[in-house]
Amino acid sequence: MTNMIDQSRIPKRRLVSGKEIPCIGMGTFGSDRFTSEQVSSAVAGAIRCGYRLFDCASVYGNEDLIGKVFADAFADGAVKREELFVTSKVWNDMHGAGDVLKSLKKTLEDLRLEYIDAYFVHWPFPNYHAPGCDGDARNPDSKPFSIERFMSVWRQMEEIMDMGLAKNIGMSNMTIPKLEAVLPLCRIRPALIEMELHPGFQQPELFGYCVREEILPIGFCPIGSPTRPERDKATGDVSDIEMPEIVEIAKAHGVHPAIICLKWAVQYGAVPIPFSVYENEYTGNLRCVTEDPLTDDEMAILKTIDKNCRLVKGQVFLWEHAESWEDLWDLDGTITK
Ligand SMILES: NC(=O)c1ccc[n+]([C@@H]2O[C@H](COP(=O)([O-])OP(=O)(O)OC[C@H]3O[C@@H](n4cnc5c(N)ncnc54)[C@H](OP(=O)(O)O)[C@@H]3O)[C@@H](O)[C@H]2O)c1
Repeated sequence: MTNMIDQSRIPKRRLVSGKEIPCIGMGTFGSDRFTSEQVSSAVAGAIRCGYRLFDCASVYGNEDLIGKVFADAFADGAVKREELFVTSKVWNDMHGAGDVLKSLKKTLEDLRLEYIDAYFVHWPFPNYHAPGCDGDARNPDSKPFSIERFMSVWRQMEEIMDMGLAKNIGMSNMTIPKLEAVLPLCRIRPALIEMELHPGFQQPELFGYCVREEILPIGFCPIGSPTRPERDKATGDVSDIEMPEIVEIAKAHGVHPAIICLKWAVQYGAVPIPFSVYENEYTGNLRCVTEDPLTDDEMAILKTIDKNCRLVKGQVFLWEHAESWEDLWDLDGTITK
């Protein structure tokens, strides 16, 4: 318990419902590098060091082992259910009629929970790829975004909230044109949105849009995902932890550049969800939000190093006639069809 961080020192954010959530959480995507056992034992350690927000997803393939960790932590009194904020996501192959409820039920069974604190639509397309497939592979069944298809999934999301199985619902990997199209159609609006966010990819327009719409931005790949799968790496990608300005500020604070990325994210107003299986890293990641903030001058420097460099391009979700991964992100300001 020596590494336990006092909850009162961890800043909180407020959802539109008024519910508080911690300003930082832990990601659970072990990618191709870590086993489910390694990820779930990191979750166990993270609960004990004071994490209360965990970002899960059915496609990460480890919810069953994480569920065992949660059950053990509740049983031994390390944490109470209501103190945790657990998220999960419906995968792209579960967008059909009735599939969202089916998917959430499986997630709840695996996580051994009666409800999820937030359930996300992982990607706004029904497009999926075979695990481990080549980065340029295209599934002939893949389709471009359609408002009708998305809303049929969202109606199911609204229903699981009506049923009390999800306390909040959210979207992920969205763009402003897509949000502008679907938000007016929502009976229950998203309370949170997951988006890629790190100093080299600050997404100021989308971030600002979400804040104005009272949708809390959860930032994934907050350290620039230095160990993401090879299929997600491309020539010209930024490496946040090697950016000279970040390295310099890290030296001034006597910390690893990863810590500067996390401090930046929290002070920017996001909720970063860094991943690590190493106790020294995940403990440091949580502790860094409780001490030694970046100065206004440092935040101003970091604002200038945005390279608008998306790392998770999503090219495996492209449909047959799409030209490039940019088609997923509506770069010309309209929904790419
Ligand atoms: N909604 C979505 O579509 C989506 C997409 C991607 C990710 N996510 C979520 O976001 C989470 C985080 O994204 P991510 O795992 O891709 O990227 P990330 O958190 O930016 O990077 C994770 C890597 O950073 C390194 N790291 C972590 N803490 C460190 C520290 N204190 N010092 C030095 N290095 C450190 C670790 O490398 P080593 O292992 O080498 O130490 C770790 O593997 C995922 O786990 C997942 O939950 C969501």
